[in-house]
Amino acid sequence: MLVSVFPGAGLAQDSGSALDQRVRAFLESHRNEWHDLNVPFEDGQVLYDLIIRNKYRSALEIGTSTGHSTIWIAWALSKTGGRLTTLEIDPERQKQAIENLEAAGLRDFVDFKLGDAHQLVKELEGPFDFVFSDADKTWYIQYFKDIDPKLKSGGRFAAHNVLQDISGIREYMEFIQQQPGYETTVDRTSNSGIAISLKK
Ligand SMILES: C[S@@+](CC[C@H](N)C(=O)[O-])C[C@H]1O[C@@H](n2cnc3c(N)ncnc32)[C@H](O)[C@@H]1O
Repeated sequence: MLVSVFPGAGLAQDSGSALDQRVRAFLESHRNEWHDLNVPFEDGQVLYDLIIRNKYRSALEIGTSTGHSTIWIAWALSKTGGRLTTLEIDPERQKQAIENLEAAGLRDFVDFKLGDAHQLVKELEGPFDFVFSDADKTWYIQYFKDIDPKLKSGGRFAAHNVLQDISGIREYMEFIQQQPGYETTVDRTSNSGIAISLKK
């Protein structure tokens, strides 16, 4: 039995499969090499745990960048039998993300879409049970409004950077906390913060 080097990530239940070993090795070797607004390692663990615990299977990520959170989400979905759609507007970042997912052995669990998420989110059919919002913060409220009808009951809408002083965040937090159909908590594992809104 392998000893987990990712405490808190729910990996005690890992099978120690060849894929697990490959993903772990990739994440460990790249741990200090994410420089494109990527989530901290600890927040990747939070996303992973959320998906595993709730057995989510249909996920959407808004803001791929070079794919750090994408790897954590796709890894969790590889265990639940799920699939991720991820959106990015920058072709160079998306290209790097695809290479990273290939290197981690997770490419087959992800649909990469290139374009403006303002439009793409409206066009996506859904339904989703897990959404990670990590692109332009001033559009968080509109992303939520567009996703809401496509989010399953029991699903979660997670928004990144909510503990940071970034334009759009204060307005988003005021808005989301007033949504009657949702219960929102803030994960403070890292300084970035993730607002996690459960659809009742
Ligand atoms: C904070 S980074 C995402 C980090 C990523 N989740 C990770 O952990 O690796 C935000 C990304 O959203 C992208 N982005 C910003 N506005 C966008 C839009 N309107 N449509 C699609 N992508 C957008 C940016 O190009 C950037 O790569």
